Amino acid sequence: MCGIVGFIGNEQAAPILLEGLSRLEYRGYDSAGVAVFDGETGTLAVHKAKGRLQVLSDQLHGGADLNSTVGVGHTRWATHGAPSDVNSHPQVSRSGRIAVVHNGIIENYAELKAFLVAQGVPFTSETDTEVVAQLIEYFYEGDLLAAVSRVLHRIEGAYALGILCADCPEQIIAVRKDGPLILGYSQEGSFIASDVTAILRHTRQVSYMEDGEVAVLTRDGIRCYNRLMQPVEKEIVTVDWEINDAEKGGYEHFMFKEIMEQPDAIRRCISPRIREGEVVFEDFSLSENFIKAMRRIYIVACGSSYHVGMVGKYHLERLTRIPVEVALGSEFRYMDPIVDENTLVIVISQSGETLDTMAALREARRLGGHILSIVNVVGSSIARESDQVLYTWAGPEIAVATTKAYSTQLALLSLLSLWLARQLNTVPEKDYRAMLSAFQELPGKMEEVLSHRDSIQYFAAQYFNHNSIFFIGRNLDYALGLEGSLKLKEISYIHSEAYASGELKHGTISLIEDGTLVVALGTYGTLFAKAMSNVVEVKARGADVLALTTANHREEMSHTADAVMVIPDIHDLLLPSLGVVPLQLFAYYVALMRGCDIDKPRNLAKSVTVE
Ligand code: AGP
Repeated sequence: MCGIVGFIGNEQAAPILLEGLSRLEYRGYDSAGVAVFDGETGTLAVHKAKGRLQVLSDQLHGGADLNSTVGVGHTRWATHGAPSDVNSHPQVSRSGRIAVVHNGIIENYAELKAFLVAQGVPFTSETDTEVVAQLIEYFYEGDLLAAVSRVLHRIEGAYALGILCADCPEQIIAVRKDGPLILGYSQEGSFIASDVTAILRHTRQVSYMEDGEVAVLTRDGIRCYNRLMQPVEKEIVTVDWEINDAEKGGYEHFMFKEIMEQPDAIRRCISPRIREGEVVFEDFSLSENFIKAMRRIYIVACGSSYHVGMVGKYHLERLTRIPVEVALGSEFRYMDPIVDENTLVIVISQSGETLDTMAALREARRLGGHILSIVNVVGSSIARESDQVLYTWAGPEIAVATTKAYSTQLALLSLLSLWLARQLNTVPEKDYRAMLSAFQELPGKMEEVLSHRDSIQYFAAQYFNHNSIFFIGRNLDYALGLEGSLKLKEISYIHSEAYASGELKHGTISLIEDGTLVVALGTYGTLFAKAMSNVVEVKARGADVLALTTANHREEMSHTADAVMVIPDIHDLLLPSLGVVPLQLFAYYVALMRGCDIDKPRNLAKSVTVE
């Protein structure tokens, strides 16, 4: 999604803006731009270019050419108007004296544009954002904050805005509604950014804007107002992770770094929550009455987070005997969901900004559900709108294709399932102990899988030229296959689908022919015999079978499958947490061999803040 950086202080602004934008590139974009106030001419100097940020930075010699201490910058992920120089941000008003950078969508931009055109306002771009700049100027009578306030009563949609005006260059105005925006405080000056990574080199003191808030940044500090324009005091928090956590650290790709970080991420996520043989959630609780009255659990998410929910359903129902429904964020609010005050709604999101998931959260709240979110990004919108939040503590995940965030979400949801079962007394003591020790084994067993990654690379070299790959499995292996298939699709661009292997014979098996690659997942021991019969079934139709199974089934599987990936044995509860690692590696190595842009796959963004 789009990225925003703004600065006003006692340092040159353009280099700060360009460096900050470079740390937001991972969000996915197609053009970039900056606007600074030129004190010599008394005007805004606006520079923007389609393509990579480096194109713009080269034009500006890294920002050295722009002698100014106040400005805003933007990386654009096109929603309205194709990627082009003129559609890039900052978008400016007709006089050129007001510049706006925007992340999100102005849903009523067409009617506002028609109104302004009827007033004789000329437009230059196809963007929804230009409407904001033009409308601010339309209302501007010398007080920028007053003009912005009038605009905010008229625009609808999702927006994080940075606004700069040549008439009052001693301030930047920031606005936040359904689009993340962070405020940064330092001796150098004041910052706005879409996320912390953009300003972490300059400050660790940040605060998170709430929906409807407006901030006025000056060289001396930041004043904030609520949607009624009443002053609000913002809590300033200290960011406690290092910038190199958000850098590659010697790895070729962020995705590979984050795959390799998973054991430590799991340790960070789980270890503090298992103490003296009990699951302990300091940052979360459910009353005994609520737990006893709970009649249904909904899990709502998108993409890989949805796949976490698909695995979690098996665990939650098996352990707690409470019905669980897993819904796509984009579908939830249109399905007349059965939610009431006795429903626990678990919202899963790495970024905490996915608008489809946020919309589902709001619908669930409207219906009276109790909202628990499982989120990676601290202070994100979904986290702040939930009744309670469990953070995965995976650290910043930069690659568009999620790996360590998925794994920590899954481990945390599995731990929550165990905790709920303990509260409901639906899990025998012996099983409870066995599962707890499995959590302690998980990081070490992940490291064991990672230490044999060369074998996965070898298989990827065999199969990277396929143009259609099936992932089949039953129960936990089916849910795992959904994630394996998505990982492969999104970074290698190979068509793939995950199928419940028992369902193949009801149609899809007609697609299996000589040489079709089938990744057969057979880690779930209870159904291993069934998995084997499905391997035989597709082999009989000419398929090449790359299997995934546990060490104790390797021998049997290798008699039938063409190749076998193996994971150490572990309790059923954590089979998907371990089984996902070879599938992530397989996708990574296939994409590597196909020369794909692994960290920034085409058409994708790290945080999807459009519906
Ligand atoms: C995962 O590899 C994808 N990038 C995508 O499916 C992602 O999981 C989905 O957009 C949900 O994102 P979230 O977890 O940040 O809400």
